[in-house]
Amino acid sequence: MFRTHNCGELRIVHINEEVTLSGWVQTIRKFGSITFVDLRDRYGISQLVFGEHFNTQFDETPLGREFVLQVKGKVIERSSKNSKILTGDIELEVSSFTILNKAATPPFTIEENTDGGDELRMKYRFLDLRRPTLRRNLELRYKVNRAVRNYLDSKGFWDIETPFLIKSTPEGARDFVVPSRMNEGQFYALPQSPQTFKQLLMVSGYDRYYQIVKCFRDEDLRADRQPEFTQIDCEMAFVEQEDILDNFEGLFKYVFEGLKGKSIEGSFPRMTFDDAMWHYGNDKPDIRFGMKIQNLKTPFVTASVAANTNGIYCEALNGVDFKVTNEAESVLAICVPNASEYTRKQTDELTEWVKRPQISMTGLLFIKCNTDGTFKSSVDKFFDEEKLKNIAAFCGAEAGDLILLLAGNELRTRKAMSELRLEMGNKLGLRNPNEFKPLWVIDFPLFEYDEEGNRWVARHHPFTSPKPEHIAVMINNDPSIANAAEYYKHPYNDIKANAYDLVLNGTEIGGGSIRIYQRELQEKMFAALGMNPEEAQEKFGFLLGAFEYGAPPHGGIALGFDRLCALLGGQESIRDFIAFPKNNSGRDVMIDAPSEIDEKQFEELKLKSII
Ligand code: AMO
Repeated sequence: MFRTHNCGELRIVHINEEVTLSGWVQTIRKFGSITFVDLRDRYGISQLVFGEHFNTQFDETPLGREFVLQVKGKVIERSSKNSKILTGDIELEVSSFTILNKAATPPFTIEENTDGGDELRMKYRFLDLRRPTLRRNLELRYKVNRAVRNYLDSKGFWDIETPFLIKSTPEGARDFVVPSRMNEGQFYALPQSPQTFKQLLMVSGYDRYYQIVKCFRDEDLRADRQPEFTQIDCEMAFVEQEDILDNFEGLFKYVFEGLKGKSIEGSFPRMTFDDAMWHYGNDKPDIRFGMKIQNLKTPFVTASVAANTNGIYCEALNGVDFKVTNEAESVLAICVPNASEYTRKQTDELTEWVKRPQISMTGLLFIKCNTDGTFKSSVDKFFDEEKLKNIAAFCGAEAGDLILLLAGNELRTRKAMSELRLEMGNKLGLRNPNEFKPLWVIDFPLFEYDEEGNRWVARHHPFTSPKPEHIAVMINNDPSIANAAEYYKHPYNDIKANAYDLVLNGTEIGGGSIRIYQRELQEKMFAALGMNPEEAQEKFGFLLGAFEYGAPPHGGIALGFDRLCALLGGQESIRDFIAFPKNNSGRDVMIDAPSEIDEKQFEELKLKSII
């Protein structure tokens, strides 16, 4: 028997017991003739005490960090206790030990705070995974996985596997492709998601499906994106949007409660896509804090904003001889609380921040709403006290606020303001990782304008159903866009989808929709996306065909499992919640992949090497 207990298990009640432990040497400390060793495994750390009589053995074969040991001995009470670890009341008086395996000196310290850089730790991921931080993350991931399965099982969902070697499914990214040896010159695509398969399962009558499944997308990587990632993928038949939101709100609450031991009361707030863009500048608002965007001037017209305006909502912008706001398509602002005393240096820093290439604004305007009721601004030359007061009132600013304004092209300015809001949220410590504010964003547009191709692309994916009241708009209007500059006037802009996203703390953790389930409508959708009937048949004939054999109304959702785990673990980067992730260039530096293949493989696959 290698062990009677694990390294995190022994307590005061075990005193005087003879036990056997196995684990890795974390630290070795010598006190006079006595040697103290911390032995670690997945469960914790136990302190071992080696008496003087072991010294000759140690002289012959010195112990080293990460050696694998088996030790036998008696549990005794510690004279100086360590309240920081669960085994801190006891130690093991070693009677004998065996070195099960030696270890080379690890390239970085395997402790909570390590001295190893990112790339080095990725190369030796198997060592990094020994660190408590990563161990905790993987434990959390396992617990979330188990909770998801428990919940969905209790609701009658079946876990059904779908294939990895498939035909391309469009989810907005590039496919990873795999050559087929048996079918010369042909390729499989790895699924960007099991979308079409889960819909086919609905046609087959498996009306509650789920899978915790790998998806593959060849896209640029970010902290919350990996080329292979995991989804909690679900589909239901005979449902409406409300049924899906209800079920998956329940799932989130169940997982959250199981993990955090506290519940989320009430229903999740809901916000339309238009409102999210209007007030937060993006479709995944972080609602842990306010600082909503104020729209002083914008061509963006939401359903809730009347169209009978020239786009200027804040009167103070009228009759001012100031090119920046006069010539800008949009002027947007946020009110930063308790920041009116920002120094010149601080406002200069913010200006530099918005000028960075990632934000690419030409400058930042500001108005300080002083606590004595006066105003001081970077635009004093153009806006008198009265106008500044008017702007402050329009923005709902309070004394002590610093109003930050950006002016320019609508798309860029809105995006920049959204980023600036988050940056200010970070600066003011308003984005507490231990606060969880989920919300549903609903009523997404069905289409999105693709500037490059001057055409419509699916905002979610081509299987998403338009809202029933908007189907006629899709069918009765020609999708072609005569004037690219005025694409936003095309009726397709007004078509909303039965699509929804689950957003948590400013991250999209899930997305789904009610699907099209009639062949004719699906064909119309493909046509709207610029696919001719032959192309649609060639790419999606299997789905269109299936819709002719009694497809039930259906819909679903997929949650980003890695993102969900990272956020529940209080972090934004998903990398450390995946056992073996890729680096930012999509490489696994540990196994050195991707890598070249040899000539023989090329020959077998009937591929030509270009190297
Ligand atoms: P969608 O493309 O919105 O929907 O993906 C669902 C969720 O998956 C997560 N996600 C990612 N996580 C890590 N790395 C990535 N590269 C990555 N891409 C997406 C996000 C996202 O919300 N088939 C549809 C779902 C449906 O309609 O039912 C789909 O895949 O958290």
